Amino acid sequence: MAVSAAGSSRAVSRNRFMLAVLGGVSTVIGVFYVGTILRYLYPKSSSTPPLPVSLSDQGVTDPGTQAVLPFNNGVAGPFYYPTVPDKSVVVGVFVEKIKAAGPLAADNLRVVEQTCTHLGCPVAWVASDNRFECPCHGSQFNRDLSVSHGPANSPLYEHDFQLKAGTMTILGRK
Ligand code: FES
Repeated sequence: MAVSAAGSSRAVSRNRFMLAVLGGVSTVIGVFYVGTILRYLYPKSSSTPPLPVSLSDQGVTDPGTQAVLPFNNGVAGPFYYPTVPDKSVVVGVFVEKIKAAGPLAADNLRVVEQTCTHLGCPVAWVASDNRFECPCHGSQFNRDLSVSHGPANSPLYEHDFQLKAGTMTILGRK
């Protein structure tokens, strides 16, 4: 009788142990999913200010490396830029003077995303040919971002920006 009671008590404590383990695992999984849902519903606030990009006649200051990237036939870059406040999306961008010899004024500037609209390879600025070219499948884009040669069939992405006292803040795709 005593042996049976001891066995029963061991079984009960094993069951309690398993329940505790399952409860703990369920709690961890629950916290993970609730946290994920809350992060989705309430994304990080925009308390992290976007990075300022300094412009001058010498070129554009890469906010990551602080190197000055000179204008080459009116286009400077590319450099990497976080496009959302929590810096989770980083894209390569160029700063383009629409009229290469024109001023550093908001109406003469364009922020061009480096991502090819075909399959996403980074395009290069080819100053001598006055166009952007993709090394992957040969797409070419005019200075106004329109396609001059496929397979891409839509223009390069342009980003909104603010310009204050020679400092640009890039706001994301138009
Ligand atoms: S990814 Fe640019 S041409 Fe294909």
